[in-house]
Amino acid sequence: MMDSDVGAAGAPNDAFRDDVLRGLGGKPRAIPARWLYDHTGSGLFEDITDLPEYYPTRTERALLKKHCPEVADIAGTGHAVIEFGSGSSVKTPILLKAVRPAVYVPIDISGEFLRESAVTLGKQFPDLPIDPVEADFMHPITLPPAAQKLPRIGFFPGSTIGNMVPRTAVDLLRRMRENLSEGALLLIGMDRVKSEAILVPAYDDAAGVTANFNLNLIDRINRELDGNMPRKAFRHRALWNESHARIEMHLQATQDVDFTVAGHDFRMEKGESIHTENSHKFKPRDSRLLLRAGGWEPIREWTDEKGWFSLILAEAAPEPLAP
Ligand code: AVI
Repeated sequence: MMDSDVGAAGAPNDAFRDDVLRGLGGKPRAIPARWLYDHTGSGLFEDITDLPEYYPTRTERALLKKHCPEVADIAGTGHAVIEFGSGSSVKTPILLKAVRPAVYVPIDISGEFLRESAVTLGKQFPDLPIDPVEADFMHPITLPPAAQKLPRIGFFPGSTIGNMVPRTAVDLLRRMRENLSEGALLLIGMDRVKSEAILVPAYDDAAGVTANFNLNLIDRINRELDGNMPRKAFRHRALWNESHARIEMHLQATQDVDFTVAGHDFRMEKGESIHTENSHKFKPRDSRLLLRAGGWEPIREWTDEKGWFSLILAEAAPEPLAP
């Protein structure tokens, strides 16, 4: 997971300040979700993935264990595996063991996470060349020479695609297609629409870990942007937005509250909220439509017994003429 931390010299990150000031002043108020992932937030997200209510990680892991051998049967071996976001020490090895790539290329905006994952995976796969690329994968990327002549498999697990609004998700999928080139494969995890009784607790767990993850944004704003937002005046809210088919996380004011951030004054009334994250869920046709809009043709889809999560293998097929 990315860690969008302060600048190299420890100076407050301008991009963070700009997003927070614009977000707090907006209507509705919203701060981009990527700022949830500072060092503490990334650690809390890791804790979330182990929660009993948070089904996506363990469901996807089981799907990978069961179906990566089929991915290898379809794709063959000796590819460049390109992962968008640093490989977790749990999911990535399942794919690497099955498809036995010639090179593994993790791409992440955070050099720190890249180095950590390269060291962890290097120990597990001492013979596998690992060629990390520190970059924002929303932009064009030059793949390392070792990956340029090989067939490619992109890997984008975790339903991270669901954290983007559809327009951004399509931009990203198109960008992935450009970065990986025609003929590449993409193995992507996408969380499915299911009952609210399952979805809401997954984002509002009994132990309060997700609440801490969300409220940590207030601590980060106070620490890095010289803010005085009272954490006690806010509560975590997770709600299902049926029309957009997404879970939304909000920080809701529990009382009227005045505060200052980076020299700017804000006032929120009791009940008002700051939207901090979207997590879109997909029906089977939604996934296919989104992938096709992004230039990827789904060729296989696997799901668990309950149909809660899906793993899709798609191909950057030549775009056929359309009538
Ligand atoms: C990273 N991402 C896929 C998680 C999700 O499920 O949308 C982020 C998360 N936020 C709260 N819990 C998990």
